Amino acid sequence: MTLDSVVDSPIVEQDKTIGNESVSVSVSATASASASVSDSGKLQGRKFYESLGKPTKIVAPMVDGSELAWRIISRKYGAELCYSPMMHSRLFATDEKYRNNFFGPQDGDIESDRPLIVQFCANDPEYLLKAAKFVEDRCDAVDINFGCPQGIAKKGHYGSFLMDDWDLVSSLISKLHNNLKIPVTAKIRVFDDWEKSLKYAKICLNAGAQFLTVHGRTRDMKGQKTGFANWELLKYLRDNLPKDTVFFSNGNILYPDDINRCISNIGCDAVMSAEGNLCNPGVFWTKTQDKDLQFPRVDKFVREYFEIAKNCKGIESKRCFKTHLFKCLKTFFNHHPEIRLKLASLHKGSTWDEIEEVVKVIEETVESIFEKTENIDELDDIKIGELESWGGSYKQVAYWRLQPHFRKVDGVEGKDVIKQSIKEVEKSAEKNLKRKASDDDDDNQLRSVDDSKKVALSTVL
Ligand SMILES: Cc1cc2nc3c(=O)[nH]c(=O)nc-3n(C[C@H](O)[C@H](O)[C@H](O)COP(=O)(O)O)c2cc1C
Repeated sequence: MTLDSVVDSPIVEQDKTIGNESVSVSVSATASASASVSDSGKLQGRKFYESLGKPTKIVAPMVDGSELAWRIISRKYGAELCYSPMMHSRLFATDEKYRNNFFGPQDGDIESDRPLIVQFCANDPEYLLKAAKFVEDRCDAVDINFGCPQGIAKKGHYGSFLMDDWDLVSSLISKLHNNLKIPVTAKIRVFDDWEKSLKYAKICLNAGAQFLTVHGRTRDMKGQKTGFANWELLKYLRDNLPKDTVFFSNGNILYPDDINRCISNIGCDAVMSAEGNLCNPGVFWTKTQDKDLQFPRVDKFVREYFEIAKNCKGIESKRCFKTHLFKCLKTFFNHHPEIRLKLASLHKGSTWDEIEEVVKVIEETVESIFEKTENIDELDDIKIGELESWGGSYKQVAYWRLQPHFRKVDGVEGKDVIKQSIKEVEKSAEKNLKRKASDDDDDNQLRSVDDSKKVALSTVL
């Protein structure tokens, strides 16, 4: 069977009996990616998503970023599903030390670390399966990283460099789909070509991916060229994949408000955040407008995070502590470079007591700001800017609170990046509108592209 026939295989309705319950399920003619329950009895697709409590806010897989302690604190601030950092499947399968270092005794703990999806990079289905077997009783699903654009992924032939090898992508997913007790999911990037992106997404789903996370950037969009994730393209994919697909959007989340805006604009099930979450786990707090939860004070947050990390078993939570503080206290450190230096002086062998000394300095500094500043209430207020054309507003947040950072792109910073990027997305919308118009006269199609143009205007970096 060719991959083209997999892509084009029809999704058909079937009746299936699960226990005493008869359910109607969608089954691809070639794989049961959209079914509710596989032949082996594991939950799939939407049923599986529902069994996790229909999470809408997701901590992205992040090397040196989404380790145990960070997942725990992120859940406190509203995250409903977390991905582990990417691990190398061959090393995980063959090297016990690597395995124990990167997946410690408390990782996947049923009380404190669920729901959890463990992510691997891979290019060999056998190693991938072997690695996944080690974690299948300690997480809810296994994800395959098809998005990593780094040089190391190019050298190792994994991540986004498999975008050119759809046979391998398909065989990696189906290996886990057919042999693992728990579901397999996939995280992909997009192509410039929307139709090709859609075909690629279908390859993943038809091979057995139960959730599809789409990062709305292409493989070239990294480092200085990171730019702007294309929500419009994400909406196009969402609209054109089978309705029942569990679809997560990734890219462009700065503030808690962006989460619901993303869900309603794209029609996705959930939103995944990496950079936004690293700068401020409060980005996931959408239940109330409580500023202490949406933009936590650095002193309170650092103490809370320290207590969690100190009590995490395994070495990763300690190893990553410093990196996290550099990231989420970036704005604070611009005002207190002397504390940044103290943090920098910590090293691999530093004890928790030594680390706590830095935590105490941060606490004393912020407490003294609150004691000594006369108009502190006014200064501590979150000021919401005007409604921008992208559909949200910039917020002015005091430097002693966690907040998003704007990445420099080609030397351009902050709001200017957003304005430039919006122009690019609008251009892309025009291009695809024209292509659609010539390819296809179908009124509905044109309407959907037209609608998605509005999304372009309401997107942030
Ligand atoms: C520090 C860091 C580490 C990352 N590591 C991974 C990883 O292990 N696996 C993965 O699929 N993506 C990884 N990514 C990419 C993110 O998961 C995400 O797709 C990307 O940052 C876009 O989301 P954002 O706009 O919310 O940052 C990483 C990103 C960052 C910033």
